[in-house]
Amino acid sequence: MEIKDLINERRTIRKFSQNPLTNEQLVSYIDAARIAPSAANLQPLKYAVVTDKQMNDKVFETLKWAGYLKGEYTPKENERPTGYIVVCGDSDIKSGGYDMDVGAAVENIILTALADGVGSCWLGSVERPRLKRLLKLPDNLEISCVIALGYPAEEPKQVAMIDGDIKYYLENETLCVPKRSLDEIIIKKA
Ligand SMILES: Cc1cc2nc3c(=O)[nH]c(=O)nc-3n(C[C@H](O)[C@H](O)[C@H](O)COP(=O)(O)O)c2cc1C
Repeated sequence: MEIKDLINERRTIRKFSQNPLTNEQLVSYIDAARIAPSAANLQPLKYAVVTDKQMNDKVFETLKWAGYLKGEYTPKENERPTGYIVVCGDSDIKSGGYDMDVGAAVENIILTALADGVGSCWLGSVERPRLKRLLKLPDNLEISCVIALGYPAEEPKQVAMIDGDIKYYLENETLCVPKRSLDEIIIKKA
């Protein structure tokens, strides 16, 4: 698939089939993050991989889903992600200020996974201290965000934004995600 089509097709997935993912699959997506752009080429990001069912259940408990739908769209038991990548910053390499690195790295992971048929949800709403204890991460690793992954069991769609309303919503059980128009976001065409 063309890269632009892949980008256009990508939507956050919050309902997953229960087909398992392997650690090797997730590591192959992290290999795409490994070569992402990095400020001053410091490459301060480290990744924890989870695919074990029991551990998946514990990671799930530390996450909050689809804030605009007020808990209604939290994956049900049989819709949960089958793997997670936890993105961390290594303070021994850089203490904070690596959010732009995270953006580039995470998008590489999301798109590489999608090209492999795997959907994902990028989560910033994470109980970080709890997750850090659960994963037994050393002090120098700060959790930035979590990427939940699995084979998609929903097809959210992109819709035009009406009256500046940014909130995604459900229509006939399909998640609709408003996007601003190109005209709205281009400041000036010189
Ligand atoms: C930095 C970041 C943090 C996010 N955190 C959460 C989250 O905690 N929970 C969640 O359900 N979705 C989360 N999302 C997903 C957004 O809600 C989603 O990207 C947005 O609604 C647009 O939908 P789309 O990804 O399908 O284009 C996050 C996305 C980003 C980029």
